[in-house]
Amino acid sequence: MNRRELLRRLAAAGAAPLLPSWALAKASSDGWQAEFEASGAAWKAGFANLATDLPPVRAAVSGRFPDALTGTLYRTGPAGHELGGQRYHHWFDGDGMTQRFAIDRGEVVHQGRFVATPKRVAEQRAGRRLTEAFGTVPEGAELPQSPDSMNVANINVLPLGGELLALWEGGSATRLDARTLETRGFKTWRPDLAGLPFSAHPRVDPDGTVWNFGIGSGRGLLVLYEIGADGTLRRADGVQVPDLPMVHDFAVTERHLVFLMPPLVYDPERKKAGASFADAHVWRPELGLRVLLVDKKDWSKRQWLRLPTGFVFHLGNAWDESTPGGTVVHLDYMRYDSAESVFTSNREVMRGRRVRSPEPYLTTATLNLGTGQASQAVLPVEAEFPRIDPRRIGLRHRQVVHATQVMDARPGFAAIARTDVEAGTSQRFVYGPQALVEEHLFVPDGAGPGWVLGTVLDLTQKKTVLSCFAADRLADGPVARAMLPYALPLGLHGTFAAA
Ligand SMILES: [Fe+2]
Repeated sequence: MNRRELLRRLAAAGAAPLLPSWALAKASSDGWQAEFEASGAAWKAGFANLATDLPPVRAAVSGRFPDALTGTLYRTGPAGHELGGQRYHHWFDGDGMTQRFAIDRGEVVHQGRFVATPKRVAEQRAGRRLTEAFGTVPEGAELPQSPDSMNVANINVLPLGGELLALWEGGSATRLDARTLETRGFKTWRPDLAGLPFSAHPRVDPDGTVWNFGIGSGRGLLVLYEIGADGTLRRADGVQVPDLPMVHDFAVTERHLVFLMPPLVYDPERKKAGASFADAHVWRPELGLRVLLVDKKDWSKRQWLRLPTGFVFHLGNAWDESTPGGTVVHLDYMRYDSAESVFTSNREVMRGRRVRSPEPYLTTATLNLGTGQASQAVLPVEAEFPRIDPRRIGLRHRQVVHATQVMDARPGFAAIARTDVEAGTSQRFVYGPQALVEEHLFVPDGAGPGWVLGTVLDLTQKKTVLSCFAADRLADGPVARAMLPYALPLGLHGTFAAA
């Protein structure tokens, strides 16, 4: 596909819905804000609204953070859930706030700052919602002029080229000052690529090469990016994919880009009829869980395989094995039986309701590129927010750090685990039913076993706590903790940047 054709298709992929704003579903006099306020659930603190930025403040530290953790943990997530008396209908809708935990000589300083996307700036000025979001079409919403007019930069962060990129998945990355978290505007990789979707889950090879993709919903276009460790774009192109679904994450091996494509397919007709972006997706189980492998060096070399129907947000890692019969790709992913959580549990929490939906299980898959056959094993381990040693991205790995232990009475996870995906064994630390566990990262420490670093929302204290564990002794509990003087709403992903 030449560049002109790519741009033409991408421009079309970003086209706005075609109905006037009066025809869109109404969402203001819906009582969600009142329902949330009336809810007696203690866990609702995880979905509370933050109204303003959080200036730097020192956390209360106990224990000692290891020297290898001198640096900054950046995290992000939806934090602006309400405006003008109106509450969003989906956890993934809220304005993104970037969190910065600076760890230095026994001290931890926290700062939180909203990403000043054009959407947030305009809506704060107006005092009401102006544009639709992932799962909500507010009353009177204007037609989005482009995907970036809906961009809330609330999913992940990527330090690159001396800046911090705040990532969404439907549009551009947003450039931030890594120290002050001040917003510098959308990232333009190349002038002709401005505004194209850039996913929130780039993968960084051990040599620093950044791989990413974007989903051009509605036109079936998968955009691929290769970026040098210095932040310079090397390549971008589009691949046409039939029945292109919602794809949130992917994996890389030494030789391949690996996409799991759950059968949650965008239907432009639903969008035109007024559905939110999320609700414009249709579950089509007959498609199976398609697997697309793209040769890293030659994007025209592609192979399709198929796993049993299921849904996935996140993959752990993937790697190539050379066998006499050809290459076998191994990967692990957090498998759901269906995409129900997109439409129910992650929505109902916004009005303080706990609704169960199929839970994610750590699943290992084997893709035989010689025979075209794919198989999988679902481990009896609930798992989300998988992270591995960043030095093993695309290489053979055994350990995956992940949240685990679903609770009946409340959303989220109560424990953190480290699972050996080859042996199927897990060690874990149970924070308990009063903690909402967020993503934990593996932080390497030379040849040592390394550390596990992550946050929880402690519902008893009503405070967010950063904890550090010895990676080989999770069950011993944290070696250091830093308690913030406030509770943060639950975030999504983060990254650690050593000083
Ligand atoms: Fe994610």
